[in-house]
Amino acid sequence: MNGAGLLGGTTRIEVRGLGKSFRLEGRDIEAVSDVSFDVREGEFVALLGPSGSGKSTVLNMIATLLEPTRGTIAIDGRPVVAGKATPGVGYVFQRDALFPWRTVADNIGYGLDLTGIKGEERARRVTDCIAQAGLKGFENAYPAALSGGMRQRVSLMRALIVAPRILLMDEPFGALDTHTKIDMHAVLLSLWERGKQTVIFVTHDLSEALTLADRIILFSARPGRVKEAFDVDFPRPRDPVKVRETSRYAELYTRIWHSLGEEFAKGRSE
Ligand SMILES: Nc1ncnc2c1ncn2[C@@H]1O[C@H](COP(=O)(O)OP(=O)(O)O)[C@@H](O)[C@H]1O
Ligand SMILES: [Mg+2]
Repeated sequence: MNGAGLLGGTTRIEVRGLGKSFRLEGRDIEAVSDVSFDVREGEFVALLGPSGSGKSTVLNMIATLLEPTRGTIAIDGRPVVAGKATPGVGYVFQRDALFPWRTVADNIGYGLDLTGIKGEERARRVTDCIAQAGLKGFENAYPAALSGGMRQRVSLMRALIVAPRILLMDEPFGALDTHTKIDMHAVLLSLWERGKQTVIFVTHDLSEALTLADRIILFSARPGRVKEAFDVDFPRPRDPVKVRETSRYAELYTRIWHSLGEEFAKGRSE
């Protein structure tokens, strides 16, 4: 299967025959049907599809927040168990889920509080994360005083502070305007260039998927299935502004846009 990642490299995440039905007002709604894919060590994979195509459902099953109806998920060869967090896996939500009563430093530090890292080590790591995210000077600010982009930087660092080797992200920049979003792409890409985490990034935004990912897995309209997968072969490190100006970007954009457009249309006619 071209581009589906079933060949080569060390597999970190293995999804096989995944399905999920929800019971809604007395009938079963099939949200996800027979989804299979692999993600390799250090790979940045985008799950792309229209709204309602089951992307979040798949991510939440990988994150153990939801139990699959069918199929299996393994991380490093071990099956994941719903309700039991997998060590070394970080999660960044669609909307920033910051604590309004905690400062920037204490929101970021919260990631460590759960692991029992305290004192000097905690302070050192928080300071380091604040610097990496360009939040110096805002350590003692509360979330209400921050812009949307800054809040998402805090969310990102709260996940990264525990140094996860796998990062699951669900439309983390979905609520941001285009320019702030591109700034966040630059922040994320530079953090990822250092850490080379294995990433699954959910989005309905094709430009975002092309800017960030090594591979795009395109989902069909509900029930979500893997429709096609595309290798994104732009060189790294990538500049999120410059990459959009290349002819290869235009070429891939056109190809994927056509396929994605068919699914947007199906979603509308439901
Ligand atoms: N808890 C739930 N109960 C009932 N239906 C749900 C639930 N969560 C998701 N769904 C349905 O499953 C489908 C896929 O949803 P979701 O995974 O959120 O899609 P996406 O993230 O691609 O927008 C949608 O039709 C949605 O309404
Ligand atoms: Mg979603």
